[in-house]
Amino acid sequence: MKRIGVLISGGGTNLQALIDKQGTVIKSGKIVCVCSNSASAYGLERAKKSGIPTRVIRKNADCGGDAEEFSRRICEYMKEMQVDIIVLAGFMAIFSGELLREYSNRIINIHPSLIPSFCGKGMYGLKVHEAALGYGVKVTGATVHLVNEVVDGGRILLQKAVNVQDGDTPETLQRRVMEEAEWIILPQAVEMVCSQ
Ligand code: GRF
Repeated sequence: MKRIGVLISGGGTNLQALIDKQGTVIKSGKIVCVCSNSASAYGLERAKKSGIPTRVIRKNADCGGDAEEFSRRICEYMKEMQVDIIVLAGFMAIFSGELLREYSNRIINIHPSLIPSFCGKGMYGLKVHEAALGYGVKVTGATVHLVNEVVDGGRILLQKAVNVQDGDTPETLQRRVMEEAEWIILPQAVEMVCSQ
């Protein structure tokens, strides 16, 4: 049974999908901790409700704004919890260095578009859906990929398409992409990696 560490920054709906699918879709892994870079992330409440240990590690308040120290502190906590696989579930910070080295090919990210469209530096959250609507695409979706040193650049594990509907706003599109794609393929991809 692989030990899973989940990194979050906000609402944690992807974390909730992982929690809910443990034992059914996710059979080869178990969430052993949740780490947030924001103390106000509602995802922390979701973890606590499920009895999962949590830790807040903030780049500025706890690490003096230093990216390497931020990475090191997260890596230290993952090792302390003996984590095998790290999942970025709505994690909005970029890290580098030690975490990438220590967990090479063992960090999974969910991105709310069909990579290589609408991804890369600065493309996260609602901005992704604003760009998709701005371009006028008829189909978008979500991608789960391994994390490497290139933002949204690692090997693609799973993708799922979602139709754009007339009258969609970034908010309605984001919700549909989460419901119809993210919350489905992230647990599936986590099981793929845990069962390897
Ligand atoms: C959402 O924009 C989602 O598309 C992306 O991260 C954001 C927050 O997700 N993956 P969550 O509700 O915190 O999981």
